[in-house]
Amino acid sequence: MSKIATLELDGKKYEFPVIVGSENEVGIDINKLRDLSGAITMDPGYKNSGSCTSEITFLDGEEGILRYRGYAIEDLADKADFLEVAFLIIFGELPTKQQLTQFENDIRKYTLVNEEMKNIIDGFPKTAHPMGVLSSLTSALTAFNPKVVNVDNEKEMYEAVCKTMGKFLVIATWTYRKMMGYPLNYYDNTKGYVENFMHLMFALPTGPYSANPVVIDALDKLFILHADHEQNCSTSTVRIVGSSHAGLFASISAGVSALWGPLHGGANQAVLEMLEEIHKNGGDCDKYMAKAKDKDDPFRLMGFGHRVYKNFDPRARIIKKAADEVLQTLGVNDPILDIAKKLEEAALVDDYFVSRKLYPNVDFYSGIIYRALGIPTDMFTVMFAIGRLPGWIAQWKEMRINKEPIGRPRQIYTGHPLRDFKPMNQR
Ligand code: CMC
Repeated sequence: MSKIATLELDGKKYEFPVIVGSENEVGIDINKLRDLSGAITMDPGYKNSGSCTSEITFLDGEEGILRYRGYAIEDLADKADFLEVAFLIIFGELPTKQQLTQFENDIRKYTLVNEEMKNIIDGFPKTAHPMGVLSSLTSALTAFNPKVVNVDNEKEMYEAVCKTMGKFLVIATWTYRKMMGYPLNYYDNTKGYVENFMHLMFALPTGPYSANPVVIDALDKLFILHADHEQNCSTSTVRIVGSSHAGLFASISAGVSALWGPLHGGANQAVLEMLEEIHKNGGDCDKYMAKAKDKDDPFRLMGFGHRVYKNFDPRARIIKKAADEVLQTLGVNDPILDIAKKLEEAALVDDYFVSRKLYPNVDFYSGIIYRALGIPTDMFTVMFAIGRLPGWIAQWKEMRINKEPIGRPRQIYTGHPLRDFKPMNQR
């Protein structure tokens, strides 16, 4: 029997249907609340509000579970590669060998970015943050691909997916090349997707380049771990922008901007900057722990805490292991890592952090790996964006195919009631 929730307001009772998900998550469907009662719900930060039903990602923050389309993140990180996972997230099933080869080849058809895009990137100062450049370039892709995708046409949708996967990787690496003053590189269609990332970033016209397979493996894993995370800030942004029927590139450009912030994807950069600052100031971790706990100090321990994971971040567990492997294989000896280890150990036994369920999150370790791979700090959030792209695409596609209504929250107005207009000479 389906459940009903009852709300009493001003002595009147209202009944609302209860939705139960496939993992028994419970939501009260208040769709008719305002029509029936005139009231709305208040939930700043949407801590208790579901914006949609979704078949893509299951996340249980209390138990530390993350699954894409029903598959455990641990299995996917261990046994699949990034494009395989991208296919799974976007199209719903793991690809056959033939489907995966086809997908990779179809992405290759779109890896050439219009040369005129170079004029746009030329307009940015070298000092521009790569995330700002990436957001602008993603939006600019709309100008070169103005045709609106018919989401109900499977072939058109598939082509849009391949095009976005191909072009976004190239322009993401261009933000780095611009920053470094290097010539912009082309995708090499004889190489794999993640291998191409390294080639696009680091190959120079002055000599041959070959990426270390250990590095490619680690990056592949990192991209998988970031590939989707249900209705987080940037994904909700992509869905809400797309809900106005704005195009895929425009919606993803907005997602990039949302991801940039230090409380979201920008945390990986903030973690490294924090570790560097602690190192520069003598490596006194206790001092920074005390600052993080001081309510009068805005400092937060970056890379700790999560809106939904209140036990541990399963991605952090996998990535911590990968970080250890990569650092060992590459023989990296970095004082920054010692500081990271000290902070982690201190926070895990500190009452302030334990009582608030603040554990290291994925960004605490990802920055450490990126640094070991020679990726500059300013590029860390771009790395997150490359990984998150399949999730953004899948969520945009799902939202459009489900014909979700335009996202338009309500508010409770707390400003002045009606006032008489005051002429200028009486103000
Ligand atoms: N350092 C010190 N105190 C913290 C921290 C932290 N990193 N995070 C939360 N707190 C405290 C906070 O001050 C509050 O204390 P009190 O209850 O005494 O007022 C309590 O813990 C709850 O914090 P909150 O801000 O209400 O929690 P939230 O769920 O709104 O925020 C968060 C989650 C991730 C924004 C926050 O933990 C944070 O700012 N962490 C640092 C930034 C970070 O690492 N972000 C990356 C998230 S993972 C990548 C991603 O998915 O985007």
